[in-house]
Amino acid sequence: MNNFDIEKIRKDFPTLSVLVNGNPLVYFDNAATTHKPIKVIEAVDNYYRNYNSNIHRGVHYLSQLATDAYEQSRNKIMNFINAANNQEIIFTKGATDSLNLIASSYGRTFLKEGDEIIISNMEHHANIVPWQLIAQEKGFKLRVIPINDKGELLLEEYDKLLNEKTKIVSIVHISNTLGTINPIEYIIKKAKEYGAITIIDAAQSIQHKKINVQELDCDFLVFSGHKIYGPTGTGILYGKEALLNKMPPYQSGGDMIRSVSFEKTIFNDLPYKFEAGTPNIAGNIALGYAIDYISNISLNTIDQYETHLLNYATQKLSQIKELRIIGTASHKASAISFVLDNVHPHDIGTFLDADGIAVRTGHHCTEPIMKRYNIPATSRASISFYNTIDEINVLYNSILKIIKIFK
Ligand code: ALA
Repeated sequence: MNNFDIEKIRKDFPTLSVLVNGNPLVYFDNAATTHKPIKVIEAVDNYYRNYNSNIHRGVHYLSQLATDAYEQSRNKIMNFINAANNQEIIFTKGATDSLNLIASSYGRTFLKEGDEIIISNMEHHANIVPWQLIAQEKGFKLRVIPINDKGELLLEEYDKLLNEKTKIVSIVHISNTLGTINPIEYIIKKAKEYGAITIIDAAQSIQHKKINVQELDCDFLVFSGHKIYGPTGTGILYGKEALLNKMPPYQSGGDMIRSVSFEKTIFNDLPYKFEAGTPNIAGNIALGYAIDYISNISLNTIDQYETHLLNYATQKLSQIKELRIIGTASHKASAISFVLDNVHPHDIGTFLDADGIAVRTGHHCTEPIMKRYNIPATSRASISFYNTIDEINVLYNSILKIIKIFK
């Protein structure tokens, strides 16, 4: 890994030097949100300090600067995922907002009673509840691909669920709770055989794996900016131009119209048709800087190093006989969920925090997974390229201490 200097990289993230209870922060909550490199923080600061202005609305100097920076960021994201053109990149508030947009606009318009949509047992609530809300209204059905004990999709069950009533297949790429990497190429290909629309929830994969939407040939792909080292409240909906053109607006107001009279409103072209109101301008510009940052290191390098960390952490935590890893799929990335005999995950989280270690505890917005494993919650350590082998050792030792205390 030629250009990978971990000490230098860690210096790019100011929050990594924070002390927690007198200990150096060990941040393993990257699936919840990632820290921000200085370039991203500076991009937000620079916007408000030097060219704060609304976009697409003014001929004046500052507005031009803001509009150019905003559209440049859209182009960076287009290139990053290899979209066919920049009209296919819609700025949203995050992956949840993007999924709500698709469910509300596409689902409400094109799905009817008797239709079916396929999701899976390992979806985040954001890829379950928006569909349930529209399904209640329109009368279509949700079908769910089950998972095995390792946390892998049962593809033979997926094949059986597909039929001529299937209109949408909406699947998570990498599970936030189990870390499973799903075979989305196969899932997309099979869905197409039945003419179904495909949606990929890339909230937990965009920061770990190179994604090429044209190669995947998915119809929609969503992700959040804050999980790929950008600001919170930012996100992307990628959609194929032809589909986005067919869909009605999700929200209405300023910027999404071409002309308004009391008799008739004509909507704006893509992508603005889906971007009503003044957006998070600074955040979306800074998201482009986050994309630059990881592109500079390269996702292949990131993937290689993170896989090394994940393998080490898995091997280390597996040595603890009181610990059970939830999610042992053959293809995994970033997240290790675990339970400890006789210790509630919230207690684990609290004791780890005393040693400066941040993990997430709870159901991770995936209650159907908890039900599948018959557990109330897990503790989850999720890895980023700024983590180190030493930090995994700190986690390991802290877990051993907790086990001793609870004995
Ligand atoms: N969905 C995010 C997580 O998994 C917040 O933690």
